[in-house]
Amino acid sequence: KDQEQADLLKLYADSAKLYQHVLMNTEAGEAALSYLHERGLDDDIIKTFGIGYAPPERLLLDFFQEHQIDYQLLRQSGLFIENQAAELRDRFVDRVLFPIKDASGRVIAFSGRLLKKSPDEPKYLNSPETKLFNKRSVLFNFDLARGAIRQHKSVILFEGFMDVIAAYRAGIQNGVASMGTSLTNEQIYMLERVTDQLYICYDSDMPGQKATDRALKLLGGNSRLKLGVIQMPDGMDPDEYLRAAGTEKFADVFSAGQQTPTAFEMQYLRHDLNLQNTQDQLTYIAAILKQLSQLNSNVEQDLYLNQLVQEFGLDKADLRQQLRSLTGQKT
Ligand code: UTP
Ligand code: MN
Ligand code: MN
Ligand code: MN
Ligand code: MN
Repeated sequence: KDQEQADLLKLYADSAKLYQHVLMNTEAGEAALSYLHERGLDDDIIKTFGIGYAPPERLLLDFFQEHQIDYQLLRQSGLFIENQAAELRDRFVDRVLFPIKDASGRVIAFSGRLLKKSPDEPKYLNSPETKLFNKRSVLFNFDLARGAIRQHKSVILFEGFMDVIAAYRAGIQNGVASMGTSLTNEQIYMLERVTDQLYICYDSDMPGQKATDRALKLLGGNSRLKLGVIQMPDGMDPDEYLRAAGTEKFADVFSAGQQTPTAFEMQYLRHDLNLQNTQDQLTYIAAILKQLSQLNSNVEQDLYLNQLVQEFGLDKADLRQQLRSLTGQKT
């Protein structure tokens, strides 16, 4: 059992090396290497993250068969797809590969990105779950970020690989990614053990905002982490914004653009409402008051009540009254 685990780890380590060799040192890797350079990744960054390339031709199967690796081990590795005749072929073909590592930095899975959009294939293809890889309990870049998380006493949670890497390039190295899937309790637990401050920096498009709202609700109920939200301007994801605005403006968003969860919700809750419309105004105000009723700090409540008073020309005493009826507390 332990031997099997060690054999799988060796298989993944060798695969990562081979994929990176193809990317950096072969003709087959040239297009992928240009793709990464065009996205702003230099060779140092490519090596830091262990990025590689799976060519269109067969690669791993031939390599491992030459080295007489056990067929059952290959089957279990998730690196191959098996047909009905129990024949194997490489799972990753013509994709840029991001190694996914465990907390000690050992490669346990890959995610492969297409170089060009395709209508009938997913943009990112991930390894299946294996004895090494349990998706729910892995955060991309946790191994590299851990030191910086401790040092900054905070962690930044991104959606994607390229967002973590963009932040890293800009000197923000305490970033990890939940890799698109919704945040899990296992991932929250990993983070709680190294920090007490979490910033959610998902894409600022609508799916990203929805995911932020969901993550805040999950964290609010399950975690003692202090929470903040960081949103890139104009619906961009962090990688897009870094390339559009440059390092300095990018870093500014992280230092000056932090929102409280309530501030985020006050903006997010507007997305399907028309606040010129009285009915929608009432819906909005009720939703905000419900949010505020969950805050422990009266000062913070007061701050947002003032904003409602200003925006909607309401009477603060009335709002307080309604808030009291939601919390049942005497203020
Ligand atoms: P996005 O759609 O925001 O992609 O998904 P991205 O990170 O901006 O990708 P680039 O910049 O175009 O390369 C966010 C994350 O969701 C996961 C990946 O982890 C991705 O980074 N994802 C996305 C998948 O697993 N499969 C997909 O087909 C798409
Ligand atoms: Mn996205
Ligand atoms: Mn994105
Ligand atoms: Mn992106
Ligand atoms: Mn009144």
